[in-house]
Amino acid sequence: MKRVLEQLSREIEDYYQDVDRCDLMPDFDRQSIRNHLRENYDFETPIPLEQLLHDVTRLMRHGNVQSSHPRYFGLYVPAARFTSVVADSLVALYNPQLGATTHSPAATEIEQFTLQFLASRLGMNPKTCSANYTTGGTEANLTAIITALTKMFPDHGDQGVRSLPSLPVMYVSEEAHHSFNRIASIAGLGSSAVRVISVNERFQLDMQQLEQQLRVDRDEGFAPFLVVGTAGTTSAGIIDPLQELADLCKDQHLWFHVDAAWGGAAILSPRLKKHLVGIEKADSITCDAHKWFSVSMGAGMFFCRHKDAVARAFSVRAPYLSKQDEDVMEPYDTTMQCSRRFIGLKVFMSIAELGTTGFAEMIEKQSRLADLLQKRLIEENWLVVTSSPFAVVCFTHERIKSGEISTKELLNRVYANRSVWISATRLKGSIPVLRACITNFRTKETDVHFLVTELNKAIESKLRNYD
Ligand SMILES: Cc1ncc(COP(=O)(O)O)c(C=O)c1O
Repeated sequence: MKRVLEQLSREIEDYYQDVDRCDLMPDFDRQSIRNHLRENYDFETPIPLEQLLHDVTRLMRHGNVQSSHPRYFGLYVPAARFTSVVADSLVALYNPQLGATTHSPAATEIEQFTLQFLASRLGMNPKTCSANYTTGGTEANLTAIITALTKMFPDHGDQGVRSLPSLPVMYVSEEAHHSFNRIASIAGLGSSAVRVISVNERFQLDMQQLEQQLRVDRDEGFAPFLVVGTAGTTSAGIIDPLQELADLCKDQHLWFHVDAAWGGAAILSPRLKKHLVGIEKADSITCDAHKWFSVSMGAGMFFCRHKDAVARAFSVRAPYLSKQDEDVMEPYDTTMQCSRRFIGLKVFMSIAELGTTGFAEMIEKQSRLADLLQKRLIEENWLVVTSSPFAVVCFTHERIKSGEISTKELLNRVYANRSVWISATRLKGSIPVLRACITNFRTKETDVHFLVTELNKAIESKLRNYD
C-alpha cells in the first residue's frame, strides 16, 4: 500500500506540475487502445496494483483530451482543483452511503450545510427549500420536470400523464440544453411536448414568441405548465431574460425553472451576479458544481422552492429503508438516486478552502480572459458573433461565412499541433461558429494570445492551400 500510495501521490504531483507541458490531444487512437486492452487484460490473470496504476495513468495521460490543460478552451469541463482530488479520495476511502441520514449523518449534514448556503445566495429560503446533489445537470433538469408535473397536476404522481385532461407542454428556447427533449420522453410527455421558442438577435429566448405560443397552445387545449430560462446557454453562455420570464410565469401560473448549469456559479461573484437577476424568483434551479465551480465530475445540484412537491414526487416507503423521524425528509425522499455517493464533499471543501472571495476571483479572472480573447479576435479580423459575461466567445471569419472553409476543417488545422483545443457549434441550429470557453483556473493571458496565433495560422495555412 505504501509503495502504491507513493506512486499515486507522485503521479498527482507530476500531473499538477506538468499539465501545461503535456500533450493536449490523445496520442493513441481508439483502435490501438482497444488492442492494448485486449492484449493485456484477460481478466483471468491477476495484475499487481502498481503495474495497473502505471498502465492506467499512461492511458489517462496519453489517451484522452487533457481538459485540465490551460489551453483547453473547451466544453463546460473545468480543470478540477486539487481540493477535489483530495475530497474524491476521501469519499472513495470512507464510501459513506448517503441514501439515509441515519447511515451518514456527518456526510448528509456537510451536503445540506453547503447546499443551504448556496440556496440562500440563489435567493431561496434555505430553511424551507429542498436542495440535493445530482449526477449532473441532466438529472437536475429531470428532477425539475418531474417535480413541476407533480405540483402542477396533483393526480400526476399516482395516475401519471394518462390521467390528465389535456397534454402538459413546456417551453424552452432553441438554444436550451438538449436534455429537455430527452427528459420529456423519459417523463412520458413525449418530446413533442417541448415547445422550442426561437431566440432574438442576442440569442436570448424571444418573449413575444413565447407569449404567442402560450396563447396558441391554450387555444388548442394543451396545458402549459413550465418555462425554462437558461442562465448560460451551452453553445454561447447566453442568459435568457430571467426577470421577464419570472414575471410571465407568475402571471400565467407556470413553473419557472432556471437552468444555470454553467452560469449559476456567478452567484458567488460580486461582479457577475448582476447577470443572474431574476433567478431568485425561480421555482427550481439547476446549477452544476462540476462546471464553473472547478470541481471534478459529477456534481450537479438541484434547488427547489417547493419542498412539498419534491417530497410528493420522490418520497418512497420500503421496509429496508430506515427513517429517523417521520417528519424528516431523508435523502432518498428527495432524489432519483437511492444508494448515493458523497457528491458534496468536494463542493464543501472547495468553497471552504478558497472562500467566496477566492472563488469569485477565480471565475472573474476567467471572464476577464474571455473579454481579452474577444478583443484580440476583433483586432485580428475575426468576427465575434456572441460574447457572454460567463467566459464564452463564439466567433467566425469571413472565409467561414463565405463557405471557403468549414469550421470542421479549421478545427482540424487548429488541432494539428495538438497544443490547443476549442470546439465548434451552430447557433440557432444553423449558424456555424467556433466556440472558446475559459474553464480553467490555470489559463493565463499568454494562453489566450497563443490561441489567437494558432487560429490565425490555421486560417492562413488553409488560404495558402487554396492559392
Ligand atoms: C445549460 C446546460 N444545462 C444542462 C447541461 C447538462 O449537464 P450534464 O452534462 O452535467 O448532465 C449542460 C451541459 O453542458 C448545460 O450546458
